[in-house]
Amino acid sequence: MEQLLKSVAERATRYLDTLENRNVAPTPAALQALSRLDEAFPEHSTDAEAVIALLDEVGSPATVASAGSRYFGFVVGGSLPAALAANWLAGAWDQNAGLVALSPIAAKLEMVAMRWLLDALHLPPECGVGFVTCATQANFSGLAAARHALLARRGWNVEAQGLFGAPPITVVVGEEVHVSVLKALTMLGLGRERVVRVPADAQGRMRADALPPLDDNTIVCVQAGNVNTGAVDPLSEIISQAKAAGAWVHVDGAFGLWAAAAPDRAHLVDGAADADSWAVDAHKWLNVPYDSGLVFVRDPQNLHAALAVNAAYLVQGETRDPTHYTPDFSRRARGVEIWAALRALGREGLAELIERTCHHAAHFAAGLRDAGFEVLNDVVLNQVLVSFGDAETTRRVIAAIQQDGTCWCGGTLWQGKTAMRISVSSWATTGEDVERSLEAMIRIAAKVCAVVDMEKS
Ligand SMILES: Cc1ncc(COP(=O)(O)O)c(C=O)c1O
Repeated sequence: MEQLLKSVAERATRYLDTLENRNVAPTPAALQALSRLDEAFPEHSTDAEAVIALLDEVGSPATVASAGSRYFGFVVGGSLPAALAANWLAGAWDQNAGLVALSPIAAKLEMVAMRWLLDALHLPPECGVGFVTCATQANFSGLAAARHALLARRGWNVEAQGLFGAPPITVVVGEEVHVSVLKALTMLGLGRERVVRVPADAQGRMRADALPPLDDNTIVCVQAGNVNTGAVDPLSEIISQAKAAGAWVHVDGAFGLWAAAAPDRAHLVDGAADADSWAVDAHKWLNVPYDSGLVFVRDPQNLHAALAVNAAYLVQGETRDPTHYTPDFSRRARGVEIWAALRALGREGLAELIERTCHHAAHFAAGLRDAGFEVLNDVVLNQVLVSFGDAETTRRVIAAIQQDGTCWCGGTLWQGKTAMRISVSSWATTGEDVERSLEAMIRIAAKVCAVVDMEKS
């Protein structure tokens, strides 16, 4: 075991060291080599060293270098050194974090991390918290708590009786709702197509002046951080209207709610703390390894009622048993890395991480604008949308940037316009990385545009 773990540490260190100079996307040769894995199920055992050697030789080159400093696709954070190291130690611990009886340390770290998270995000200290896999599961869990609370008010026990014959619930979402909220509604039997959609403005924010009449049978899903623009719904206005009507407000703040932790951005999410439930990702802006999401519910009883389990063989701890606050039963101790990230960053470090990545995004936007390209969004957080001309030209530029390998950005369709998305979400990105990536983007875009012009003439 000792030799194996030492050698894997060497391999992993070598991998991380090579990220600086390798293509961000895997090369065609690396992808081709994946066919080495297409072997029949081995009849005989293999030495663990040899298994890891194969994994490293074939697997490492075929990774996307999203752990590196020039990956700007989707919204993907890196792994802070303390978080990655904690993840390794937790791997050795191999704890089942479901119950205090199964892992007192996992339960304790969740309790501490919970307190720190609520403090950092300025959420009510009494919240119940679930350590889930991702923002999709966090949306699911928060909305499960909402469904429980609204139906319980009507005397309906949805956990026991299901939705057959239950009083109807209205769900209000913005036009720019993230698909994960719709997926959560699907899984909850609330239906993704029976939602009431509220129009959005040019940045993708739900329009508070276009809200339908609300009542205490309604869940209003607001968004902090549009996946394309980073824009935040007008939370104060919407939440105060919704609360006055007795509605439940759920905030999908997968990445945007982290703005609360940075004093210069916190105004963007003013009012968020007045909601009833919140979904946030830790594997995005907190930069812990995949997978890691968080659900917060103002009244812990609602989350508990929606997700708790009971059986005679389950020893109940005297303190909070984590399994009662997540859809999973057995699960890994993902609170370990969250604790380690927060312990290492501290309040200042967290604020600086959020602020620094936002500055990098603004720098990308300014550089691309100066080079004559159109930035389509107000860059308020860490997201930039850029158009390089018509849809086809933009698509060709994105493909060429991905192929070049200096950095990686994906594409999107923003309000009818094809755009490249830049998301700066990693602690590892430096000013130099931004300059190097900008140079590559501008050089490649100029080349593609010249070819397109030639083809047209
Ligand atoms: C606003 C928003 N909500 C939810 C999600 C889903 O996150 P996850 O992939 O962690 O489930 C994302 C992902 O980018 C997002 O931007």
